[in-house]
Amino acid sequence: MYYKNLLFALIGLSFLGTRAQERIPKVEELLGKMTIEEKIGQLNLLTPGGGVATGEVVSKDVGSKIKSGQVGGLFGVAGPDRVRKAQEIAVNDSRLGIPLLIGSDVIHGYKTTYPIPLGLSASWDMDLVKQAAQMAAREATADGINWNFSPMVDIARDPRWGRISEGAGEDPYLGSKIAVAMVTGYQGDDLAAAHTILACVKHFALYGAVEAGRDYHSVDMSKIKMFNQYMQPYKAAIDAGAASVMSSFNDVDGVPATGNKWLLTDLLRDQWGFEGFVVSDYTSLNEMIPHGLGDLQAVSALALKAGLDMDMVGEGFLTTLKKSLDEGKVTELDITNACRRVLEAKYISGLFDDPYKYLDAKRPKKDILTEDNRDLARKLATRSFVLLKNHNNILPLNKLGKIALVGPLADSRENMLGTWAPTGDFNLAVTILEGFKNVASNATIEYAKGANISDDADFAKNVNSLGERIVIDERSPEDMLQEAVELAKTSDVVVAVVGEATEMSGESSSRTDISIPESQKKLIKALVETGKPVALILMSGRPLTIPEEFDMPVSILQVWHPGVEAGNAIADVVFGDYNPSGKLTATWPVNVGQIPVYHSVKATGRPAPESGEFQKFRSNYLDAPNAPLLPFGYGLSYTTFEYGNLKLNKKEIAQGESISATVTVKNTGDYDGEEVVQLYLKDVVRSITPPKRQLKGFEKVMLKKGESKEVSITLSADDLKFYNAQLEFVSEPGDFEIFVGTNSDAKLKETFKLK
Ligand code: NOJ
Repeated sequence: MYYKNLLFALIGLSFLGTRAQERIPKVEELLGKMTIEEKIGQLNLLTPGGGVATGEVVSKDVGSKIKSGQVGGLFGVAGPDRVRKAQEIAVNDSRLGIPLLIGSDVIHGYKTTYPIPLGLSASWDMDLVKQAAQMAAREATADGINWNFSPMVDIARDPRWGRISEGAGEDPYLGSKIAVAMVTGYQGDDLAAAHTILACVKHFALYGAVEAGRDYHSVDMSKIKMFNQYMQPYKAAIDAGAASVMSSFNDVDGVPATGNKWLLTDLLRDQWGFEGFVVSDYTSLNEMIPHGLGDLQAVSALALKAGLDMDMVGEGFLTTLKKSLDEGKVTELDITNACRRVLEAKYISGLFDDPYKYLDAKRPKKDILTEDNRDLARKLATRSFVLLKNHNNILPLNKLGKIALVGPLADSRENMLGTWAPTGDFNLAVTILEGFKNVASNATIEYAKGANISDDADFAKNVNSLGERIVIDERSPEDMLQEAVELAKTSDVVVAVVGEATEMSGESSSRTDISIPESQKKLIKALVETGKPVALILMSGRPLTIPEEFDMPVSILQVWHPGVEAGNAIADVVFGDYNPSGKLTATWPVNVGQIPVYHSVKATGRPAPESGEFQKFRSNYLDAPNAPLLPFGYGLSYTTFEYGNLKLNKKEIAQGESISATVTVKNTGDYDGEEVVQLYLKDVVRSITPPKRQLKGFEKVMLKKGESKEVSITLSADDLKFYNAQLEFVSEPGDFEIFVGTNSDAKLKETFKLK
């Protein structure tokens, strides 16, 4: 009971972001018994391979290392039986019987794969995001996993970067809300419960800002930008009680994150009050050698001193820390502190009470891939889709008539789950062809592939390095195209499923050209030329550049990579059983030359003319507009919404006070539907240059056809604050503007003063 109270005290205190001073007696007692080698052993995280390895190196002699107390945790091992074997070695055969942490990347669902995180974020529905995380935690823990390498909360403003798919997009406010929903969904309010899992916030920090959108690349940004635009989601996750943090591959202010004391200790622990443990990313400790920070012994000592507690796969800690201790390069206290944090995590997750608590052989059947879970995955997918365009209201389709379903992704089971689904099984995914037949069983649905995802064999080889996702057909591109065009001509409507294969985004999947591949562009053009109504179902793990397709007389539904229920969910929306309500969480550029382009950009002293026309000596391009193709927050519905009557409850507020905006939103179209009402703030005059506008509130509302609602959004005193040149979090007196509307170009405006 005493332990339990202490546990709650610990969790409670970390929620408040303060430092808990209490020590856990069980952990202290263990520390007292441990040799230095055993303490170092706890700092070692291994992956035995055979499961899913996400780096080039896998660990060797894992069993004997566990036995000799050289392992603190494993990942890439799952299933009650397999995990039990490892746990039994730790508990029965190692001197102190310390159980293992069992980690995994459960990024968008465990076995019941739901939409990629970028898609999920487009739902703007925090309850649903939390439910998704709860389901993932329940399934993963049923399979023996007690630690999840999620949420990934990196702000990403460069869609060339393949890992934009893994996060919540470009905005720190929305990103923070999603981070909190995920952490609280995974961890619940009792981490020792059998269905909750330790969260790991990653990748700390700034990984989303890698130069040129190239993975594992360098990051360089001012502290002002860091604190005002990139750090909030990490901090929000930590304030919500996240138990662990993963350091990123990149450098931060010249020092790799994994060895960065300012980042891992001064900021994370001393300023933010983080009490959990920090794990490196996969061999990111060793990667400090090519970064130019010294040999393995030097970088390992640097990382430990910086505040890293656990070394993923690289064994730099395991093989060099004792030597560094003997040579006085690290102290025993440094090692003990790191070990304590790892042991405390094990304690909090209940492993000392029962090392086998996540190993109930009956649970997988009961908790994994249940009908309820699949239903939730289907619902989540429908909420993630964004209607980009609805030419002539082609969508929704009626469930009768003859539909030509074409495109390389229309019947491609291997491309439904999305990039980070190593624990999922694509064989269980519903294709779009199947989904259409399930949902519109009275329609005549005929399928033609029409094109390869790409005809470029070299590109396909790169994309296919972990498994075949781009299948280059034996037929010639011309034959496939002709078959699709013939089918289109004899059909009432054409639905073309086009875009990216799953592995065209995600880790190590950056692209310099983010348009639809040429083979598919040709197909789209040929289909449009038939004169038949065409709806594009666009799949991708990132914003794409689609200016030509957007100009064509087509409807476009963006569906990301929707997960195991892909086909059913797409059919639900295409046939109008659900009216799309998703909104983009990352801006869609016109072309890659505009990148980075995002809504909270700063103003320039030489703004381009409002008309969009080029003007010399103004901040504009000779060959493209400044405005993106589609702004942040954008998304249509089958119905229409009208905004009016924006009012603030005060015209002037004092420091510390809140302010509320109220707007009337009316459903003026022919369908019931949901709308995400968005509020943006502009701080007109400041001591540092303000962004043009920033998202500061949103509310998703359901409106019946013809219905009006008053929607109120309150800004807290903190919402007016920013980090000034001294990095103090302040608000400054002066004028503010509030914009409310359907996306980040919202026009309705009101002003107020902060005294
Ligand atoms: C490398 C990735 O960057 C990280 O996100 C992941 O958690 C680890 N590999 C472990 O798979």
